[in-house]
Amino acid sequence: MSKKVVKKTIRKVINNIFKKKVVKAKAKTRLIVANWKMNPVTLKEGLKTFAILKRIDLKKIKDTIVICPPDIYLADFSLKYKGSKFKFGAQDVSVTNNPESTGEISAEQLKNLKVEYVIIGHSERRALGESNSVVAKKIRNAVEKGLKVILCIGEETRDINGDYLRFIEKQLLEILDGFNKKYISNLYIAYEPVWAIGRGHGAVESHDLHQMNLFIKKVLVGIFDRKIGLSVPIIYGGSVDEENAKQLIDSGEVEGLLIGRASLNPSVFVNILKLI
Ligand code: PGA
Repeated sequence: MSKKVVKKTIRKVINNIFKKKVVKAKAKTRLIVANWKMNPVTLKEGLKTFAILKRIDLKKIKDTIVICPPDIYLADFSLKYKGSKFKFGAQDVSVTNNPESTGEISAEQLKNLKVEYVIIGHSERRALGESNSVVAKKIRNAVEKGLKVILCIGEETRDINGDYLRFIEKQLLEILDGFNKKYISNLYIAYEPVWAIGRGHGAVESHDLHQMNLFIKKVLVGIFDRKIGLSVPIIYGGSVDEENAKQLIDSGEVEGLLIGRASLNPSVFVNILKLI
């Protein structure tokens, strides 16, 4: 099947799903998240990277910038630089509040370290066996303790029948079923197609991102209601770099970015902030 036919089929599936027009969420401050994953190897290097970021003039940059270093370094940033232009986030949180949990870090402990955000359900954690129900429990614990949650969702592959849309819908329904609306302002959705993360395929096309953005909004409206569903910011992650960041934000109409590799190089990261 030609690329053109594939695109037409997918568009048809999306059009069938949309029964009424979905309006764009009100523009807010964008959220730019640096996911350092298991980098760097030493705290010293991490602090050096941050020192470079700190020197840049951020006055003109209105976006909220969240740095997510490995947990083992987190306190060295979150306590020392609280109240700065930068916010700090964890890359995961425990599913339990039970203190008899060797090796775990609770939402309350993060909060006490002045950590404000947490990434939950990243595909690299799901690859280790994290299910939608575990992700849902983690989110509940985190928001109840006052953390802002960046919930990662995303399909592993794209198919011409649009099954990936059902996959995204299922993730959202299973994870957000029972989510208490009173915590809605603590919730961000990061659309991160698994195939676009890391080296290899490259980022999603911006018009495909725009379609997915609308689709996610539509599902959220179905789960909550129109007003609440449209209030949840949707950001994008997966191979964001200096070349594509502006296009993804402008044409994809997302409200922020979750950046992996490109956030490890401070000059590249700063350049992305300036470009968008
Ligand atoms: P990448 O990672 O930017 O290196 O693709 C993104 C992510 O995994 O959050």
